[in-house]
Amino acid sequence: MAKKYYITTPIYYPSGNWHIGHCYTTVICDALARFHKLLGEDVFFLTGTDEHGQKVEKEAAKRGITPREFIDPLVAELKDMWRLLDIGYNRFIRTTDEDHVRAVQYIYQKLYESGDIYKAEYSGYYCTPCESFWTETQLVNGKCPDCGREVSLQKEESYFFRLSKYAPALLKHYEKHPEFLQPKSRVNEMVNNFLKAGLNDFSVSRTTVKWGVPLPFDPKHTAYVWIDALSNYITALGYGSANDSLYQKYWEADLHMVGKEIVRFHAIIWPALLMALGEPLPKQIYGHGWLLIGGEKLSKSKENARPELTDPYELVKRYGADAVRYYLLREIPFGSDGEYTTERFLLRVNADLANDLGNLVSRTQAMILQNFGAVPPRGTPAAQDGELIALAEETFGKVKAAMDALNAPDALAAIFALVSRANKYIDETTPWILAKDPEKRARLGTVLYHLAEVCRICAVLLKPFLTVAPARILKSFSCDENAGFGALAFGGLKEGAEVIKLPPLFPRIDLKKELAEVEKLVKEQKKPQNAVKSEAKEPAKKPEISIDDFGKTELKVGEVIACERVPKAKKLLHETVKIGEEVRSVVSGIAEYYTPEEMVGKKVVVVTNLKPVKLCGVLSEGMLLCAEDGKGGLCLVSPERDISSGGEVR
Ligand code: MSP
Repeated sequence: MAKKYYITTPIYYPSGNWHIGHCYTTVICDALARFHKLLGEDVFFLTGTDEHGQKVEKEAAKRGITPREFIDPLVAELKDMWRLLDIGYNRFIRTTDEDHVRAVQYIYQKLYESGDIYKAEYSGYYCTPCESFWTETQLVNGKCPDCGREVSLQKEESYFFRLSKYAPALLKHYEKHPEFLQPKSRVNEMVNNFLKAGLNDFSVSRTTVKWGVPLPFDPKHTAYVWIDALSNYITALGYGSANDSLYQKYWEADLHMVGKEIVRFHAIIWPALLMALGEPLPKQIYGHGWLLIGGEKLSKSKENARPELTDPYELVKRYGADAVRYYLLREIPFGSDGEYTTERFLLRVNADLANDLGNLVSRTQAMILQNFGAVPPRGTPAAQDGELIALAEETFGKVKAAMDALNAPDALAAIFALVSRANKYIDETTPWILAKDPEKRARLGTVLYHLAEVCRICAVLLKPFLTVAPARILKSFSCDENAGFGALAFGGLKEGAEVIKLPPLFPRIDLKKELAEVEKLVKEQKKPQNAVKSEAKEPAKKPEISIDDFGKTELKVGEVIACERVPKAKKLLHETVKIGEEVRSVVSGIAEYYTPEEMVGKKVVVVTNLKPVKLCGVLSEGMLLCAEDGKGGLCLVSPERDISSGGEVR
């Protein structure tokens, strides 16, 4: 029976704003999945989306749509991105999938019954963008230690997970399995900063978040998103359902590949949860580095200062999926961060793919077609050929060793060392001179056979990494496109096989011209024309409502009589609004657009029958109507003529 290989990416927040950094984890996993398939293993590759939680709930509410209406187009967009990049997953799990929701409830029930989940009061600081809780001492300058953004103090009845109980067992696991977490640098952080310091039980339910999995034993609570999300690795295989045959077959995971910022969840909470469930732990977790721009994590929401082309749709459209995949797999030193620039991207694609690989294939084909019309007879190798043949035979071993260490850049470096060696072989053997001498025809044939054979071997070796060029190369030498690693022996190419001249595999890019064009494109913030992205970014149209539905909203004219900033909340203003005889406290997310001074005296339109809420500890008894221009601009909606406050807006 074939060996199984179960590999997972993290499940993505449906945040939209996809950038090339997002593609990194998934492209690496896809290359690993393809590599193991080519080894003949039975691979299951899982990816998906992490759809519950406060962030989605808030974003949807801001737009006046349901969470589902908010996330569906973003999930479609992400799937399109994976399709464009040829990501061959076996399942795309959504945490809103019914089977996942049921299995999460099963997990909570089981842990509640075993006493590992218990009820208590929660008080802590919550970072909504990271969906993480922090204690006061963990905050850095009062802000989230992970992302540096504002946190809010939250107190509520909650269910807790008995994480503290599992610290000794986790420590033991780390001692016994040095391979469990990689690279090694991340182990020190987890063991010294967290495990050795002791673990605290932590809150795993929310009453304030409605957009989540309701707890089966107390449905006014929803599951904490990280427990919901982490569980996907087993629920996707049917864990906790009537049919768990995939779970029986594939669990434990061979590899959870994750970005370094989420190692803590995967390397501590997740194994503790599995221990509590009595299930085996994953074999390995790998925390990779980030793509940076100007030394900072590439992130569209943080608007990295330097303009670079980071849109994966546009990159694939301009340069092809192979170029994007190649750049990600080759350029970023594995385990570390790597600086991203459009220029480095283009240089890498030009140097390796257009020049080295593209040239080798096109020169080899041109010379074969010119001199033989088909693959020439192999003949007898000369001493001069030994090094190339030996390298072609050794390269798979090097690629395998690198991939066993999850190191795609080294694997590609080994393949491209062979490509370079073959280009050098052309210079050494000077086939264009051999071609002039009829007596050297047999030697010319041998040289060209060797070159064609290296092209074929490189194409097979490149199959995990590139998904277009290898098949084209194989087809152009009349070889089986589906050839696996079993076809790597030197000499496998059939003499006499038809050679079909390929158009350039990777057209050379005029760097100066392209950079100028890209700069213009990025500056204009031109949206990609790609059809597949089409409706994805359009906000979902709201459903039709009746006049009665509209009548349920009470809108009144108000006058802002006082206004101040909400402490520690960059975006919030706290207005005191007079509405007729009544005075209300209202909190609005407009601090980036208006100063408190500007607000005083303004006539505004207030939604007056909204349920009051507390935002960052301040009571908000209504909402000011604002208009957005879709480009980040925002202004208040005010009555066109002066009208006394308290007037109804209809
Ligand atoms: N939803 C959580 C994961 C839950 S898994 C049980 C999450 N999602 S995410 O959308 O924020 O990130 C998805 C992946 O993209 C992570 O591996 C993250 O590290 C990766 N990247 C996002 N930006 C990145 C870079 N700039 N560079 C490299 N990878 C980065 O976290």
